[in-house]
Amino acid sequence: MDSGLRRNDEIMNDSILSGQLIEQFAVFVARITAATSTEELEALRLEALGKSGFYTRLKKELGKIADIEERKKSGQRFNEDAARIENELKIKKEELAKKEMEVRLRTETVDVTLPARLAPQGKIHPVTQVIEEITALLSDLGFVVAEGPDIEDDEHNFDKLNIPASHPARQMHDTFYLQGNGAGKTLLRTHTSPVQIRTMRAGKPPFRFIAPGSTYRCDSDITHTPMFHQIEGFVIDKNIHMGHLKSTINEFLKAFFELDEVPTRFRPSFFPFTEPSAEVDIGCSRANGELKIGAGQDWLEVMGCGMVHANVLKNCGIDPNEWQGFAFGMGVERLAMLKYGIPDLRTFFDSDARWLQHYGFDPLNIPNLVSGL
Ligand code: PHE
Repeated sequence: MDSGLRRNDEIMNDSILSGQLIEQFAVFVARITAATSTEELEALRLEALGKSGFYTRLKKELGKIADIEERKKSGQRFNEDAARIENELKIKKEELAKKEMEVRLRTETVDVTLPARLAPQGKIHPVTQVIEEITALLSDLGFVVAEGPDIEDDEHNFDKLNIPASHPARQMHDTFYLQGNGAGKTLLRTHTSPVQIRTMRAGKPPFRFIAPGSTYRCDSDITHTPMFHQIEGFVIDKNIHMGHLKSTINEFLKAFFELDEVPTRFRPSFFPFTEPSAEVDIGCSRANGELKIGAGQDWLEVMGCGMVHANVLKNCGIDPNEWQGFAFGMGVERLAMLKYGIPDLRTFFDSDARWLQHYGFDPLNIPNLVSGL
């Protein structure tokens, strides 16, 4: 049998294949041209060149074409078509991607006139707020800020402040002692007064500073927390007398409580580092269970104060015959409670975010040394 002769069914097959090639090529090109989105185009790509796409399937069939010439011709055409389809897809893809980007740029603009969505905002803790307020007020009266460490030693916290060894504040149940014994014994400072000693020993008079900071005592009940805050006020200069102390405190209290008049009472008291010493009470009324600062029947203690004891000056190498001064110390939480009507001291340290949202202050309203109150 002549091997050049082909069977009829084979010729049929061959022509079906090449017919399909021609027909499908035209269809694919037309569909690619008409595609309107990159998704549609991707679907077309899979349909044509994907794993089970038309050209991939056809490739397997090509090998079966019996006529060598025909197989060659179809193979060549197949290769050309597949390459052209791939190229058409590429061109169209770029075109569509560009169009889609243009549409997005046109439609996805940011409307700058929309109201901004508010970000959650933190609050300033009343302790911080009151320290800032007092610092701003007293800096107007010429006080600068001084600082000392929270971990103090016996010498600065007690000895140099003329506090005798027998003083109750020095007992274990009043003070948090850390390591060490004897003179080097360390402790958490029980008040901000050691800053007096540190500042005087580091410089020369005159002095006029405040020292805000944390203080610690072995105490915990409704009106005491183991950590609290104080602000020390301190002035050393020539010819300073109690009149200066009284007027400074009076001016400060009026400004702090934002009142034209705050009645004050300087009640004789005792501190080892001041002589004479006094406790300052402010007038208030408690009508209907509501506390009001200002003129009234009642008095409320707000700070300790006095003229700096000669021994304290001598302990820091300052001649008490040449220099005199006064000191005062107040509790920050107590002043915050009075000014802002916060009823319970312990809530200051509960770290309750709801409490802070309620009693806290907006960050941008915080006073500072430049803007004042
Ligand atoms: N340091 C004293 C206290 O903590 C307060 C005080 C300071 C009293 C300055 C007088 C002068 O109680």
